Parts: sequence; structure tokens; C-alpha cells
Amino acid sequence: MPLVNSTEMFKKAYKEGYAVGAFNVNNMEIIQGIVEAAQIENAPLILQVSAGARRYANHTYLIKLIEAAVETSGLDIVVHLDHGPDFETCKSCIDGGFTSVMIDGSHLPFEENIKLTKQVVDYAHDRGVTVEGELGRLAGVEDDIKVSQEDSSYTRPEEVEEFVARTGVDSLAIAIGTSHGAFKFTGEPKLRFDILEEVGRRLPNFPIVLHGASSVVPEYVDMINEFGGKLDNAKGVPEEMLRKAASMAVCKINIDSDLRLAFTGTIRKHFAEHPEHFDPRQYLSEARTALRDMVRHKIVNVLGCNNKA
Ligand code: G3H
Ligand code: 13P
Ligand code: ZN
Repeated sequence: MPLVNSTEMFKKAYKEGYAVGAFNVNNMEIIQGIVEAAQIENAPLILQVSAGARRYANHTYLIKLIEAAVETSGLDIVVHLDHGPDFETCKSCIDGGFTSVMIDGSHLPFEENIKLTKQVVDYAHDRGVTVEGELGRLAGVEDDIKVSQEDSSYTRPEEVEEFVARTGVDSLAIAIGTSHGAFKFTGEPKLRFDILEEVGRRLPNFPIVLHGASSVVPEYVDMINEFGGKLDNAKGVPEEMLRKAASMAVCKINIDSDLRLAFTGTIRKHFAEHPEHFDPRQYLSEARTALRDMVRHKIVNVLGCNNKA
């Protein structure tokens, strides 16, 4: 089984009303935990790498680890650049073996977003690589960029047809009220399903992407708080809202924060219970198992993509 682009994965997801999980990866244990979950659940899989992950772990290390995951798991896997900040980063990922890239021009004026996105699409499509664009802006923290609530904006459905037609993107991320990180809502969680519905109506058979889709699972928030962390008022997207989105036009759901919580919570607990430990294998193997179980939960209970590989 090879690395694949997202075309066939999204076609099937759209048709059958589920979403594929796109999980952020930064090191070997995270990749192994996610891939083992997908193997057990026989699920399609997108592993995504941010610019920050490339800086942290090195592009070559990550792509080789993912190639190892393909070889050992027998799964089709998409390796995707998450939030590509500029053409050069997208080009470097395409040249370096990624099968899919996101160009995030969501902070740019409409015409500039189109111009940049089309430049990436032209380069990517010549090389068999699929491209995700973004319209509308999520709040929250990603890498060095912090988008305040005031600077965030919902996607305007009346712009999506022109954006897709003029850029040629293969999928589109939209903003309907989710945000990055562990603090998504101050009051009651609310998503603009009316926007998703209208976008879906305007773009028939076209895969939509939902970022900022961690549920910020309370079990792990509590674990982190219990063992010396400080995550007061953390709140994520309720699972039933994600299931609803997955049954609509959303074909890709991005999850990072929940993996971080499972990984870090487990390590905090491990050291509280075993202060004498100092072999990284002791705590990393436990963290990897917790992360695997988190991904299995997402695949079965949130995304609905088990047995869809
Ligand atoms: O949307 C951002 C992802 O959670 C990746 O985060 O840029 O800190 O690697 P990062
Ligand atoms: P979360 O912070 O909700 O996990 O979102 C991750 C994401 O959108 C990555 O692009
Ligand atoms: Zn994102």
C-alpha cells in the first residue's frame, strides 16, 4: 500500500457520509499510536504535519517515519501539510514526498487568497498532489500565530463557488465556529450548521474540511489538572456536533489538541505514580497507548470511518 493523495478517500467519505480523521504528528510515538488505531479499526487515515512539526522533528525524519508506517501497516495513508503558510513551504513539502498540502490564505483578502492558492494548486496538480484551501478564519492558537476572537470570521457561503472554481482546490476548510486549541468556547458550544449546509448546497459533491475539531475530552483535562497541570475552563466541540458535520459535507476532521491532552495527561499521571522512573520508554509507551485509544474512539464514535479503509 502506498502513500496516496486525498481524492479517492474524500470521494468515498462524501458518498458514504463519514469523515476521515486528520491527525497531527510530531514524533515517532504519535505516528505509531495513530497508525495502530487505524489498523485496528481498518480506517482511512490522514497524517498531517504543520510547519511547526517540520521545524521540531525535521521534514526527512517525519516523512521516513510515515513511510515506515505505510510499509508496516499496509494502510493507504495521506501525508498532508497542515496550514501551509506560503508557496515555498508547500513546494518544499510537495518536492519532499507529501501527497497533499493545505495552503492557508485565510488571513488574506479574497483576491490574494485566490492568487496564492491557485499558485500552489498549479504546482501541486502537475505532481499528483491534492490541495486544501481555506475561506473564513478560525480563532485560536496554531504555531506562532494567535488569532483573537475579534479577528476570526465565519466563511461567507456566497464566496465559495468562485473560490473553488478559480483556484481548482480539491477541498475547502471553512469556519463555522470551531477554533484551535483547548479553549474553544466561553459559553455554550455553538456551530453555524446553517453555513455548512449552504456551502454544501453551493458545492455539490465537494469535500469540506473542519479544523479545530477536538472535543477537549474532559477525562484528560481532569487528569492534567489532577496531576499538577492548569487547564481551567478548557472546552471543545461536543461529539454529537462533529458526528452531524461528518454526516453532512465534511469529509476531513482535524484533531490535534485531544492527542496532546491524552499524551501529556498520561505522562503527568505516570510520573506522579512512578517518580523513580527515568527510562523514556516507560512513560512514552503508556502515552502512545493512550493516544492510540483516543484515536480509536474518534474513528468509531466521532468520524464513523471504521471499516472504511
Ligand atoms: O492547527 C494547528 C495544529 O494544531 C498544529 O499545531 O502548529 O503547534 O504544530 P502546531
Ligand atoms: P484542534 O486544536 O481542535 O485539535 O484542531 C487541530 C487542527 O485544526 C489542525 O489543523
Ligand atoms: Zn487547523
